[in-house]
Amino acid sequence: MNATVLDRPTDKPLIQTLDMLTPSQQEAIRKIPGHDQARIPSIDATNPVSMYTGQHFYDHEQKNLFRKRAVPLTLSRMLEEPGTAMAHDGYGVPLLVTRDKEGTAHVFLNACMHKGARLLDGCDPVKKGRLTCPYHAWSFGIDGKLLAAARAETFENFDKSSRNLVELASREAGGIIWTMLDKDAEPDFSSVDDQLVADMEAFDIDTAHIYGHKVFELDANWKCVLEPFLEGYHVQRLHAQSVGPLFADVPNVTDKLGPNIRQISGKLNYTPDCLDIPGENIHKSVTHAYNLFPNGVVVTSPYYISVMFLMPNAVDKTTVHYFMLTRSPDDNDKARELYKKSYDMVIGVFGGEDFWAAEQSHAGLMTGALDTVIFSGLEETIPLYYEILEDALAH
Ligand SMILES: [Fe+2]
Repeated sequence: MNATVLDRPTDKPLIQTLDMLTPSQQEAIRKIPGHDQARIPSIDATNPVSMYTGQHFYDHEQKNLFRKRAVPLTLSRMLEEPGTAMAHDGYGVPLLVTRDKEGTAHVFLNACMHKGARLLDGCDPVKKGRLTCPYHAWSFGIDGKLLAAARAETFENFDKSSRNLVELASREAGGIIWTMLDKDAEPDFSSVDDQLVADMEAFDIDTAHIYGHKVFELDANWKCVLEPFLEGYHVQRLHAQSVGPLFADVPNVTDKLGPNIRQISGKLNYTPDCLDIPGENIHKSVTHAYNLFPNGVVVTSPYYISVMFLMPNAVDKTTVHYFMLTRSPDDNDKARELYKKSYDMVIGVFGGEDFWAAEQSHAGLMTGALDTVIFSGLEETIPLYYEILEDALAH
């Protein structure tokens, strides 16, 4: 529970300076070498293609990863006010996410406890005092309690308290709501690492404005969608006509925060000296890219932050919820112009380039042309990610 999401002011300075980040982030940034000093390693690493295309591996991941430990679900800011509810179907499990009158977030199965009908449709947040099932008008509080059943006197020995909504274990921290997807699994929130939460709070994910959000339904395995956010190899190539020229072929400073990965790299304009220019926007010269294990992505840009949840729906289907967060509202012409331009650009780059490439790659892997995919030293975070994934699948 994070009551601060409701209490704290949301207007922040437009930019962030180095000293606004956590000591851990600052320390990592100070490790970025000048581009002339950067050494890219040679590595020998491959993945079997069946990890991306095999039904057996997909089922293994669902059972031993996605249903066994908490996954990132959505942003706290989606449920800004108490008494808000929204449906969430991204993981293929009908969920209901609410914020009760006290400000606590809850995740329920979106199933009426009379006969299972959906209580709420549509995945946009709505202000609701109660949730009434359209089928037989059973109504539930936003905290999941059964308030009333129509003609309740016609149920003999009716125990109302045994028909509350089924709540899934969830946790809210750093502006993100994590949830278990299996009501019967032992809750495991070990991915919600303290340092990760501190880093997300330093970015003000919990108080930022959601400028825009978009849902993508992709024909690709979720790991094909994730990998572009774990490597810089493609940036100057795939993004040659868009953002590529802003970046350099340099390795990342990579840290594990629990099972999560933080990658920090200097953009083309980065020099170690630029870190000490007073008042300088740190996000102009440095990019952060996080993996919120296993399937969340956070990427920083000079004037906004991108958060994505990549949710597997089948071995070859992934639902992506993309959010663009800004530090100030778009309440003036300058901000409106900047954010609109940024949103169009980022949707073009992630949607039109990265997601496009993920679908292309998945289709190619399905041909059977390759037995393995191979990773370069500019992709060295990918094998690290798969070590973490394998470890999680084994426990
Ligand atoms: Fe990319």
